[in-house]
Amino acid sequence: MTRDFVWGAATSAYQIEGAYDEDGKGRNVWDIYTHEPGHIFGGHNGDIACDHYHRFREDVSLMKEIGLNAYRFSVSWARLLPEGTGKVNEAGVQFYSELIDALLENGITPYITLHHWDMPYALCKRGGWMNPESPEWLAALAKLAAERFSDRVAHFFTLNEPQCFVGLGYLTGVHAPGLKCPLRDTFEMAHNALKAHGRAVQTLRLYGKQPLEIGYAPTCSAAYPETERPEDVEAARRAMFALPEDDRNWAWNVSWWSDPVLLGRYPEEGLERYAPYLPKITEADLKLISEPIDVYAQNIYNGRCVRMGIDGQPEWVERYAGFPRTSNGWPVTPEVLYWGPKFLYERYKKPFYITENGMACHDVVSLDGRVHDPNRIDFLARYLRELKKAAAEIDLRGFFQWSLMDNFEWKKGYSERFGLIFVDYRTQKRILKDSAEWYREVIQTDGKNL
Ligand code: FCB
Repeated sequence: MTRDFVWGAATSAYQIEGAYDEDGKGRNVWDIYTHEPGHIFGGHNGDIACDHYHRFREDVSLMKEIGLNAYRFSVSWARLLPEGTGKVNEAGVQFYSELIDALLENGITPYITLHHWDMPYALCKRGGWMNPESPEWLAALAKLAAERFSDRVAHFFTLNEPQCFVGLGYLTGVHAPGLKCPLRDTFEMAHNALKAHGRAVQTLRLYGKQPLEIGYAPTCSAAYPETERPEDVEAARRAMFALPEDDRNWAWNVSWWSDPVLLGRYPEEGLERYAPYLPKITEADLKLISEPIDVYAQNIYNGRCVRMGIDGQPEWVERYAGFPRTSNGWPVTPEVLYWGPKFLYERYKKPFYITENGMACHDVVSLDGRVHDPNRIDFLARYLRELKKAAAEIDLRGFFQWSLMDNFEWKKGYSERFGLIFVDYRTQKRILKDSAEWYREVIQTDGKNL
């Protein structure tokens, strides 16, 4: 890795902050959704979560102990703007301000994600992403963030995984706000969310107090080739940007969410296939959506192996019995951190970050009082070796491990642990896992020990 490669870890507001009802914070869609019975494993919710709102200083010291160069966190929209727009909650501004100062005092570079799924409930009641004003709502958050934080923060991401907050939130309905909308509506929401991204970029630039590095953080399941034969590589490349066969699954793809942002157009194949569902898309919309960004990012956890079939079409390679999986059932496919960034860079030609990658393990505190997580070390070592290969070929800026600490894993509640830091939710005691110590060495040697 180059000298200025950024080694970080990531979290998001709802998953760690808690203090859901304190100091003037408004409700967001996850506050409402988790309080309804039946949605979340064990009836869990983010009311307290890791109590990071009160313990952020301790958490920053732990980041320092791990030696992180950078920390990616999201702001809780309803903590800053309880109604989503309009009146500012000064206590919320103060919280993030103090967090930023603490990070800087400890030599850790802050990376802010504006929207990581927790839309204020007040805005959801006004139609959420269906409302044509929604791009202006995100612009209001971007303005506040730029005005109040960009004197000290130079790195911003607009949206985290729009695939999920639209696809899981409004299509399959397994995430907040838990709706199953007609396909037509979800395409309109997606279009509005992309416009919101564009408005956020414009607004951050306009009000930024220093030159900002602005990016976008969608997600993908990357395709990787079965062999390095050119046909298989081509098959994987095509599969990587293809649209899902089933329209009900449309949100799970790369090109619909990234081509407009980086190439200024929706993919032709989609415009034809989805024609019956599409809202009006104007040239002005596409210009807004493709407002230039500085860096591009993806959250990549796993993917699928592809080969070129004898009919000249990409085909999925079946996973063998006993294929390695994480505790939440995700396949372990380290190749995605080589091929994913490489294919994305070829197509979009932007400096690139991995904004999330990591694994869930059912970690426990051992008799010796420590948390031994050899699986996570093995997982990260395998994935980072692949990323290192990619770094030799493309402009790769950094890697954010998901997650700094165990936290509220959405539908799975607290049952899945992704952290470098173990959290005992009964006492809020934190314990650095073995993987945190291992990651420290990776950071110190700039990946040379991988
Ligand atoms: C990603 C989310 C993040 C976390 C990880 C495990 O999809 O962005 O909040 O839940 O998955």
